[in-house]
Formats: sequence, structure tokens, C-alpha cells
Amino acid sequence: MSDAKIIDGKAFAAKLREDITAEVSKLKADHGVTPGLAVILVGEDPASQVYVRNKGKQTLECGMNSYEHKLSADTSQEDLLALIAKLNADENVHGILCQLPVPKHIDEQAILAAIDPAKDVDGFHVVNAGALATGGEGFAPCTPYGCLMLLKDTLGDLSGKRAVVVGRSNIVGKPMAQLLLKESCTVTIAHSRTRDLPEEVRRADIVVAAVGRPEMVKGDWIAPGATVIDVGINRVEGAEGKMKLVGDVEFESAVKVAGAITPVPGGVGPMTIACLLNNTLISACRANGLEAPNLGFDS
Ligand code: GUN
Repeated sequence: MSDAKIIDGKAFAAKLREDITAEVSKLKADHGVTPGLAVILVGEDPASQVYVRNKGKQTLECGMNSYEHKLSADTSQEDLLALIAKLNADENVHGILCQLPVPKHIDEQAILAAIDPAKDVDGFHVVNAGALATGGEGFAPCTPYGCLMLLKDTLGDLSGKRAVVVGRSNIVGKPMAQLLLKESCTVTIAHSRTRDLPEEVRRADIVVAAVGRPEMVKGDWIAPGATVIDVGINRVEGAEGKMKLVGDVEFESAVKVAGAITPVPGGVGPMTIACLLNNTLISACRANGLEAPNLGFDS
């Protein structure tokens, strides 16, 4: 059998950002509205600093306004909540994102709950999680939403397919399962306590790996022809002590069995920020009583 089709998330995300840029330009010209995204970073976590920098850069590249709030690691929860209240009330801000993780003395759930659900472009507020579960209008979390775009682009209609999501986090696993259920997949959520995980994965037409364990899902766990979406981004030591990025799937073995697979890097990774910008555009449209474009999907 020939190797799997490689799903090019980098190219898909670039096209999505292009479409967003065009819509932002129309929104400005026709309605005088410029979408604005506020990103809050508390502390100096190096990985978070890179994410926040990339978010700010790509926000500006799409023609949106970017508001960055970098706070010291000892910022009190009270001060952070006060900043969120100010951003909630600011009509130039359509999206608010507090980069996770926050320092230990801050209650993450209290912060997420304080963000106006209408500006919660991360889709982490319970109101948005509830909307996703019950079919209401809200925001879906960016990474699983990006995975769904790649899946529909690769497979078309997902109805009736068996999907196994490995990982049950609030950020990826649970919302991914909800999105697949909405597409009429038969969904299994597997996790660290799942009995005979390889056998569960072998049943799937669609595998979404989001466990945060380097190369845990092996090629011989994958059903021939299955579509594999690898959400993992793990930094491991490679040849000659050089650090390299690997996913949660053992790519070398999986690519020989799967029908299609996302690489790491260049697969799911670039989709997250593109979907964040898409959610910010949608929020700006809704805030101004305008119909939001449905970007990222053919139909
Ligand atoms: N930390 C890791 N991923 C994310 C994300 O998608 N959003 C936020 N706010 N923090 C994160």
C-alpha cells in the first residue's frame, strides 16, 4: 500500500487567513468596523510568549487590531479580573483571550468565567461549552475546530464514521468529541484509563490524538486507510542531542497504514491561530448585527 496523503495544515491555515483578511477588509470598507483581539499573558512562560507573539503578529497581518496585555507573574487575581472587566466593556475589543496556563495563585476557572461569552473567542467559557454541547450559537475552541476543518476537507461528509478521540481535555478532547458528534460520527473518547487502547483506536475511521505524550499512538494501532489527526506538539531530544518536535502519533509507522495524516509540525498547529482569528471576525460581525461568513468549510 502507498503511504498516506499528508494533510497540509500549514497551507490550509494560510488560505483561511487570506480569506479572513479579505473579509476584514470588506468589514472595514462597508461598515467601518475593525475586529479587535485582546490577548493577556500573565508571567514569562517561554512557550506562551512565543504563542502570544505569533497571535499578535498574525492578528495584525489580517488587518485586525491587536491589544497585548503582558502582566507580571505576581499579578493578583483581582487585578486580572479588573482588566477583563475593562476589556469586556470596550467596544473595540471583539475577542479576549487569556493565555493558559496562568500562575498557580490564580484560579483559572474564575478567569475563564469572567470573560464575556460573546467575546470568548477561545470557546472556553461554560456558556460556549454548553452551546457546543446543545447546538446553540457560540464559539468552538480553536484547535478542535481547526481539526474539523481539516477532516471535512479531507473526507467530505463525516456522517456515520467511527471516530476515536484520544484525550479528554477541556481544550481539545471534549470539544472535539462534541464537534464530531454534531457531524453525526459515532464518537468514542479514550483516555489514560481506557482498557485496550490500541484495540479502540483500530476500530476508528477517524483518529484524533490529543494526549500530550510523544509518539504514543503506533502505526499498528491504525486501521488501514483511516484518517489521523495529530494534535500533539512534543519537544523531544532527537539525533545528536538536537531538540525536535514530534506529535502524539508515531508518524513513521502511521504514515504507512493511514489513508491521510497530519504531520508535526505543519499539520494542526497552524490551524489554531487561524481559527482564533476566524472566531474574532465572527464576533465582530455579531457585535454589529451582521451575518458572519462561514470560512474554512466548502459549504
Ligand atoms: N494554552 C495552550 N493553548 C491555548 C489556547 O488555545 N488558548 C489559550 N488561551 N491558552 C492556551
